[in-house]
Amino acid sequence: MVPAYKKSRAISTYAHYVARYKTRFYSRMGFDIVMGRREGIYFWDLNGKRYINCHSNGGVFNLGHRNPDVTRALEQALGDYDIGNHHLISGPRGELARRLCESMRAGWLRGRFRESIDTVIFGVSGGEAVDLAIKLACAHTGRREVLSLVGGYHGHTGLALATGDARYRDPFHLDLPGFRQIPFGDFDHIERFITPDTAAIILETIPATLGMPVFPKATLQHLRDVTAARDIVLICDEIQTGLGRTGEAWAFQHYNIVPDIVVTGKGLSGGLYPIAATCFRKKYERIFKKDPFIHISTFGGSELACVAALKTLEISTDPLFLKQVRENGRYLESKLEPLLERFDRIVEVRGMGMFRGIVFESDVDCLAMVKALADNGVFSVYANNDRRVLQFLPPLIATRSELDEIVHLLEKSLLDQSRWKYRLLRKAIEWL
Ligand SMILES: Cc1ncc(COP(=O)(O)O)c(C=O)c1O
Repeated sequence: MVPAYKKSRAISTYAHYVARYKTRFYSRMGFDIVMGRREGIYFWDLNGKRYINCHSNGGVFNLGHRNPDVTRALEQALGDYDIGNHHLISGPRGELARRLCESMRAGWLRGRFRESIDTVIFGVSGGEAVDLAIKLACAHTGRREVLSLVGGYHGHTGLALATGDARYRDPFHLDLPGFRQIPFGDFDHIERFITPDTAAIILETIPATLGMPVFPKATLQHLRDVTAARDIVLICDEIQTGLGRTGEAWAFQHYNIVPDIVVTGKGLSGGLYPIAATCFRKKYERIFKKDPFIHISTFGGSELACVAALKTLEISTDPLFLKQVRENGRYLESKLEPLLERFDRIVEVRGMGMFRGIVFESDVDCLAMVKALADNGVFSVYANNDRRVLQFLPPLIATRSELDEIVHLLEKSLLDQSRWKYRLLRKAIEWL
């Protein structure tokens, strides 16, 4: 049994010892939720209030909280395994790498045979896996410049931080040379930004933190062609978009391209044990020929995590599961689109499959909506780099009737916006 925490005590201890300013922000917003019990598409605040998790922690809880199949696999593994030894050869690590590569396998694409992704190195977090992707790209090309998307997000570790917006770097006085960001619309003519020193271009296949704008197919295909022609490493961050979220195992599969490196994390082990992976073409492995010990992660690919991930991957790449995600995604879209007509505050609904962004007129509207949803028992948050956008990621296991309930609560929250409480809240947010 886990200890029973009292909400007020949990908040004050957290504020005192972990994050005083964050706690203060949440308290002011009336958003001081403390997760207690959790199961399937739901979690409960310590005060007993139930939420449907429509943020899914950016895909961590794609299969719901404490998915019974993944939990069982992990429980069984605890009888035999621990994290293993990262220096040694490992059965579960090898098997998980094989399955990941199989899920990304490609043959002839757009008239050309593309080398497949066929090697994997495990890490603990998405940021760590992104850092390694950039290290591999620089090592392979001997170049130093990395291009990324303005408003994109790849984590807060060293190199991942350098690919992100200045807002996250400047307070720490960290500004690595060689990192440049390109606006979303300029990816159509990426050639203009490439220099002889460009090693890699990194992007989320659909940029979640920028509010899920979807690249046109032609843009990503052009990007693939240009990078392939110049031996620039194309890195797709599939930390949020992967593992079935968009209706394909990996979002790049909608685009008929294969990146050079794919990074995954978050939902890879069903939200039960941290693991992330950098998946790449074998040719980049040559960097380890002279000295195979130049990159190490003690907890990366822990054997317990691998067991959980194997089960998660088995579920999330099952063709029937993916078909259901695609159908539910279309269903969700058919329910969200009409809201555009009915509610002036909504200006766009974007995304793919079960990866949706609802764009509001202003960030104040979106913040007030986050609060109204929470009041109505739906947990969802705004996109941090475009706060007009509500990130809407219901668990992939949600049934049709659960999706209906979610949409009903969304409509209710939109209607509630005209109530005094939310009018006042909007005023208060403007003052914050
Ligand atoms: C697209 C994307 N890349 C990278 C990361 C960083 O992952 P982590 O927090 O596990 O380091 C995140 C986390 O939110 C993410 O959403």
